[in-house]
Amino acid sequence: MVMTENMRILLASRPTAAPKPADFTLDRAAIPEPSEGQVLLKILYLSLDPYMRGRMSAAKSYAAPVEIGAVMEGGTVARVERSLHASFKEGDTVLSHSGWQSYAVANGSDLRKLDPAVAPISTALGVLGMPGFTAWAGLQNIGRPKAEETVVVAAASGAVGSVVGQIARLRGARAVGIAGGREKCAFLLEDLGFDAAIDHRGPDFADQLARACPKGIDVYFENVGGRVWDAVFPLLNTFARIPVCGLIAQYNATPGDTGGADRLDGTMRSVLTKSLSIRGFIQREFASQRDQFYEEASDWIAKGKLRYREDIVDGLENAPTAFIGLLEGRNFGKLLIRVAKEHA
Ligand SMILES: NC(=O)c1ccc[n+]([C@@H]2O[C@H](COP(=O)([O-])OP(=O)(O)OC[C@H]3O[C@@H](n4cnc5c(N)ncnc54)[C@H](OP(=O)(O)O)[C@@H]3O)[C@@H](O)[C@H]2O)c1
Repeated sequence: MVMTENMRILLASRPTAAPKPADFTLDRAAIPEPSEGQVLLKILYLSLDPYMRGRMSAAKSYAAPVEIGAVMEGGTVARVERSLHASFKEGDTVLSHSGWQSYAVANGSDLRKLDPAVAPISTALGVLGMPGFTAWAGLQNIGRPKAEETVVVAAASGAVGSVVGQIARLRGARAVGIAGGREKCAFLLEDLGFDAAIDHRGPDFADQLARACPKGIDVYFENVGGRVWDAVFPLLNTFARIPVCGLIAQYNATPGDTGGADRLDGTMRSVLTKSLSIRGFIQREFASQRDQFYEEASDWIAKGKLRYREDIVDGLENAPTAFIGLLEGRNFGKLLIRVAKEHA
């Protein structure tokens, strides 16, 4: 079928708690025309990531929000449909940041050519892309696991967490994953080789975590916050390192909502008495290390040492529901939307 219009998902309203389908509008517009020096991109895959919840909010953050009525922001893998740019030709596959739409025009400055022979092109949005790099950079620069140490990561079956645990093992550490549900925990143990996996929805979650970490926790890679943090915190060893990568359990909280607990006094006491290093980061801070990551991670993947799982949903129109599900743990692996078939 030849597409004659550009399907777009726009931000309709700013959610106050969990986003709802009505916060998005499905819109159809003319396919944009490239000018001299530009390319027309046909989007194949759209990445859905937790940071998009922040872009829906006007609260002050490290990046500007999406305006109401604008196309939702997002990383994409696309094919060049028409080129008026000297460096790109029709049929090239590229990594772009084109957002939640089926076509886009780009001037080439933010495009990276992908070689489908090296790895499946969708991996440029996951294990070999921003989430994989986030895991690698957070561990490399902040977590710095040593052999025999215990590394704990939450949202462990997801895009970032799955890579954190596997790299911890590759560096000789013990990897303990926290995930939602039996199936995700089995995947961590059987497919990814984690040393232990604990279900954070289980009634005895904190006790099970303590049993899985008999020597305490040396590195806690924080993706979640909330109840998971409460269970991890008492187990931290002296000189533990805590890369604070994300706090997904708090992204749908309303302003001032502490989840019923004020953790600050207890946290600060332990930061002092246990000499903890708690350090937040946004992956782009380490952008100069991307080539090093790509080289190391591609090699691990080629040798079967780094595995990944993708959760691919067909159809751009299903992006809002899939995104809402991401914030509730309904995805299993790196969440992607297949906007168009690769070989169509
Ligand atoms: N700092 C950076 O530069 C950077 C870059 C990328 C990502 N991040 C952060 O890294 C974290 C993971 O992102 P990702 O892309 O890899 O997502 P993901 O893990 O693939 O998907 C999100 C997962 O979070 C878990 N989750 C959601 N709500 C939860 C809750 N209330 N309590 C506990 N777990 C919950 C769910 O897993 P379970 O079913 O296992 O609970 C869900 O599947 C996020 O916090 C994200 O914001 C940060």
